[in-house]
Amino acid sequence: MATDRDVIIVGSGMAALVAAMKLINEKNVKIFTKEPRTGGNSWRAQGGMAAAIHQEDSPFQHLQDTLEAGCFHNDPDMVSILVNEGLSRVKNWLKQGMTFDHHNGELSLGMEGAHRNRRILHAGGDQTGYKCMEFLHRQLKDHPNIQIFENEMVFDLIIGEGQCQGVLSKNHNGTIVEHRGGHTILATGGCGGLFEATTNDTAIIGDGLAMAYRAGAALSDLEFMQFHPTLIKYKGRVVGLASEALRGEGAILVDETGRKIMENVHLLKDLAPRDVVARVIERETHAGKQIFLDISAIVNFEKRFPTIYRLCKNAHIPLEKGLIPITTGAHFLMGGIVTDSNGRTTIPNLYAVGEAARTGVHGANRLASNSLLEALVFGERIGEFICKEPNMPTNYARKENQKLKKLLKNTVKLPSKGEIQYFVSRSLGVVRNEQNLSKLIQWLEKWDIQSHFKIDRTLWRKEELEISNMMIIAFLMGKSALERTESRGAHYRTDYSLPLQEWDRKQITLQKKERVASNQ
Ligand code: SIN
Repeated sequence: MATDRDVIIVGSGMAALVAAMKLINEKNVKIFTKEPRTGGNSWRAQGGMAAAIHQEDSPFQHLQDTLEAGCFHNDPDMVSILVNEGLSRVKNWLKQGMTFDHHNGELSLGMEGAHRNRRILHAGGDQTGYKCMEFLHRQLKDHPNIQIFENEMVFDLIIGEGQCQGVLSKNHNGTIVEHRGGHTILATGGCGGLFEATTNDTAIIGDGLAMAYRAGAALSDLEFMQFHPTLIKYKGRVVGLASEALRGEGAILVDETGRKIMENVHLLKDLAPRDVVARVIERETHAGKQIFLDISAIVNFEKRFPTIYRLCKNAHIPLEKGLIPITTGAHFLMGGIVTDSNGRTTIPNLYAVGEAARTGVHGANRLASNSLLEALVFGERIGEFICKEPNMPTNYARKENQKLKKLLKNTVKLPSKGEIQYFVSRSLGVVRNEQNLSKLIQWLEKWDIQSHFKIDRTLWRKEELEISNMMIIAFLMGKSALERTESRGAHYRTDYSLPLQEWDRKQITLQKKERVASNQ
């Protein structure tokens, strides 16, 4: 039974749980995740949470680093919220009992790329995401105002009277369920799963972005996908991430001859911004070199980086020489659903948070360890904002949408996920150009994506729903990347290899004109 106090959260990562923490004293929270609650990206986050907590650091310096790494494509007001509120919200978390690693009684602050100071709080060495998620689940456990629906895929927003009124889901039995809520938050993450090599959970394929787009919400900056420079790849298989924190502690990038590949490339060498490092590795790999992360300078590697050690051991990577074979891979989408500083999208009563949102904090290239901070700051802000909003009626009358033409399920042909990943990886990778981007668009157009906007999605299986979402987002990313005829941050084109002034602070925003998101 829906009540006027219901808030629906789609996704169960850190941003979702942080928002829920703020909401549960005032509202009923229903969290939906298409996986078990232990799935998703937040649990895997290795690096940490950036905050200018050291007395010699300042939020202003953190702001400058964030803007520089983001190639000044960021929204400075939003970055200011991130770094200033971020610091006080992190301090509150510490008071509430979240424990980050300490050394000699002081918080142990790590270093990562493009930060001028040590400001990365971490927990359990490289298990920061896991420890944050455990902390949040402990606080929420058994609270009467929260329900978590696992293995239940939300596939559409219910739009009526110009606002979001809830969601439609497919539960673990495949039954379609309608959930009404006064406020709906999309916390579904980005879309790393569109690529063959990614640090993301493979389930993260842009579901929330596609749903929001179909509903008529504005999406922006989709051409800015960050590629992490150091995914562990052994015998042709990506086995996980080797955190940038390793380079912060002295690891260096070398080729098979031991040549330091970041020497003479950037002042910060191995700690240059992620987009710069990823491009160098890509260039070297294309020239036939195998690149390694040389960890031999790191004392106590196994204890300080237990996750990375385990990943290497499980993959039988020999570590005697201290060399981890690496490659680049899709990591983080800087763009997403356009939101204001309270997480509001362009659709009333629909919110977005975390990687699903385009708040503007990350610009063209996210600064390392700013994503957990973003989840904390904007998750709490959404929760606080909605708590102050009046409860909304949820007993809307059902209406047939005359515009929605129902097609039969078998009239739409779909490619496989693997095919999409193949084309996306070759067109929207670290290095792009018009020819490859056009190939992607032409290939996607062959599948008649337009028909996906008219189909009765309730007839589709989970896999088909996901494939359709992947195609829609791949198409929008491809269009944005083609339109941005310059290179900036993570968006690099060989045919327009420099940033152009005419593109300064210019956003590519995509929005469907007609709001058709459910059969309501
Ligand atoms: C990493 O540990 O290298 C990833 C952390 C991040 O993306 O901020």
